[in-house]
Amino acid sequence: MSQLIIFDTTMRDGEQSPGASMTRDEKVRIGKALEKMRVDVIEAGFAAASPGDFESIAAVAAAVKNSTICSLARAVDGDIDRAAEALKAAERKRIHTFIATSPIHMEHKLRMSPDQVVERAVYAVKRARSYVDDVEFSCEDAGRSEMDFLCRIIEAAIDAGARTINIPDTVGYAIPEEFGYKIKTLLNRIPNADKAIFSVHCHNDLGLAVANSLAAVANGARQVECTINGLGERAGNAALEEIVMGVRTRSDLFEVTSNINTEIIVPTSRMVSTITGFPVQPNKAIVGANAFAHESGIHQDGVLKHRETYEIMRAEDVGWGANKMVMGKHSGRAAFRSRLEELGVNFESDQELNLAFARFKELADKKHEIFDEDLQALVSATRSMDEKYQLVTLEALSQTGETPKAKLTLAVDGKEETVESDGSGPVDAVFKAIESNANSGANVQLYSVNAITQGTDSQGEVTVRLEKGGRIVNGLGSDTDILVASAKAYINALNLLENNNDKAHPQTSGV
Ligand code: KIV
Ligand code: ZN
Repeated sequence: MSQLIIFDTTMRDGEQSPGASMTRDEKVRIGKALEKMRVDVIEAGFAAASPGDFESIAAVAAAVKNSTICSLARAVDGDIDRAAEALKAAERKRIHTFIATSPIHMEHKLRMSPDQVVERAVYAVKRARSYVDDVEFSCEDAGRSEMDFLCRIIEAAIDAGARTINIPDTVGYAIPEEFGYKIKTLLNRIPNADKAIFSVHCHNDLGLAVANSLAAVANGARQVECTINGLGERAGNAALEEIVMGVRTRSDLFEVTSNINTEIIVPTSRMVSTITGFPVQPNKAIVGANAFAHESGIHQDGVLKHRETYEIMRAEDVGWGANKMVMGKHSGRAAFRSRLEELGVNFESDQELNLAFARFKELADKKHEIFDEDLQALVSATRSMDEKYQLVTLEALSQTGETPKAKLTLAVDGKEETVESDGSGPVDAVFKAIESNANSGANVQLYSVNAITQGTDSQGEVTVRLEKGGRIVNGLGSDTDILVASAKAYINALNLLENNNDKAHPQTSGV
């Protein structure tokens, strides 16, 4: 059995999903969870995108010791130099440089000839090698690139020192049989192919990202790039949990094993969902709430008699059932801090700890059993940023036959103001009341409520996605009262719109 390298790009490609931005501290938490899961390579961001991205990569590089930390870089000096700088503290580091290789991208995006693209790729790999030994080179849009050209540029990149060659299906265009054949042909035709690991990076536009990645593995790819929950640009990337469980469950077909500790897949999935505000659909494979739920009588009967009749994996192997009651009303500050440290959350100051602890006590008054998921949501809600708007109080009227109404007191730049409105429902009334003060001009693109844990005393976790002038943010709020959670989420989204942290997109700006 050979090793399948798991390269997680939740914090880079995943973060390119509209609104899925993560703060530095959130990236450190995710980085530590991925390290605990024994992910081999963690792509922590695109260092040249913004100072915030740079600092996040540097913080992950300093905090994570057992996984390789990687930064993306276009094939230009500035990007490669920034990536090297951001990775300084990493024990194991990789620079991932890329350039587009399809005729359509070379002609219309890069406006470069194929010869110039090869020259630039070789230059970029050599420059990256001047900083680190571990260099990955990607042929962007390889799914639509010509075979002869791919062979030529990959051979040159390996000669220049690339140790990993990544074949992305950037636009999610490939079909499994075709993609598998592409990998096999590259491995057979490129004379120095044995000097590099071949990797794949598939997007899910046709819903085939995992199928294409597995077809590539069956044909010799030994690294898969993927994300938790399949997060990523447009329809997302191949889902890490599906790749890992696919090769494990069908080890009769795949001659590979991964290092992944599968038992923390579900908690990590929840963490990523809470941080990004992207809910996991109930029927999502492996990590969806229904993934192991047997509804029909026939299935239940079969599972009870002999579980393998309908179950191909064990729920506990991927971390279901691992959520335990961790704390309650009487838990003290030391226990609170230590549990959060175990979850990868470190407080930078006593003030930060005190604020989170105060919120914990408030929650424990309303809810007797506090689970890890509640703590994750609580910490995400306390994420530090300048808050123009804060919720002080909320009153809502919802009565059969009456028009729903909401009255809120907001602190706006520290000054309390009372706003009210009616609406088609109480949530609508709450949002309209807030807008009567904020006048943001933003559009609500998504409103979703999820129960964080089971039972009617669960906290509701609300995501509000706002769009304004092409910018998209996901606001999050949690509370045992879903109207309060909704108000918090809307206010959080407004504050995110106020904190303009725009960054460059690696794939639109070209070389
Ligand atoms: O989809 C893609 O091509 C990418 C590359 C930058 C690897 O994300
Ligand atoms: Zn991608």
